[in-house]
Amino acid sequence: MTRLYRRYILPPLLDRAMSDRRISRYRRPVLAPAIGRVLEIGFGTGANLSHYPESVRQLEIVEPDAALHARAERRVAKSTCEVIVHPLSAEHLPFDASSFDTVVSTFTLCSIADVDSALREVHRVLKPGGQLLFLEHGLSPEEGVARWQHRLTPIQKVIGGGCHLNRPVRSLIERAGLKVQSSDYEERYAPKLPKIVSWLTSGVAKKTAG
Ligand SMILES: C[S@@+](CC[C@H](N)C(=O)[O-])C[C@H]1O[C@@H](n2cnc3c(N)ncnc32)[C@H](O)[C@@H]1O
Repeated sequence: MTRLYRRYILPPLLDRAMSDRRISRYRRPVLAPAIGRVLEIGFGTGANLSHYPESVRQLEIVEPDAALHARAERRVAKSTCEVIVHPLSAEHLPFDASSFDTVVSTFTLCSIADVDSALREVHRVLKPGGQLLFLEHGLSPEEGVARWQHRLTPIQKVIGGGCHLNRPVRSLIERAGLKVQSSDYEERYAPKLPKIVSWLTSGVAKKTAG
């Protein structure tokens, strides 16, 4: 049942949710600084693709879920950006250290099983001075909302393909040694969505040189 759900039911649901204007309006500004060699982890159904700056002509992506990726193919075919697909998990990246200028993660850190390992890998593959561009939902600073996020995460993991409602995004990124740039950092509830899913954190985190 779970396999059938993840293969046939979750992909269209996720595609619709990730294309919803209430959250997709944040994608373009977050992706605007993307430069150089770019890696996106958890590409999903490709909802970011049309929001990259035109200067990004080639994108490498990591996506372990073939059913989700099948839904991305329509967008990839329409795009002028070349997409190089790595059907893998972000916990073990097959790339040399210090080989990317930009890594992108949007609504993905919630779903990676071993998120600390994945962020350590992001740190490893970024060049010194390289940047992680992130847009994630996570743990609300409001105690009452956070309590419900903790309570509902076990259910959300089942219906949302491993998604946790209660991850402290900024501290996870900083724990991996990346420095969140305060000038770009933003956190807020996306309007018109339940608070348990809409506490959004976005910005740029850099791998410091040396
Ligand atoms: C909620 S979807 C977000 C998709 C896309 N990033 C977006 O913004 O629309 C979460 C994504 O994380 C991916 N994911 C889950 N575990 C992962 C892992 N270990 N490594 C990389 N991606 C993973 C899922 O397959 C899915 O594509």
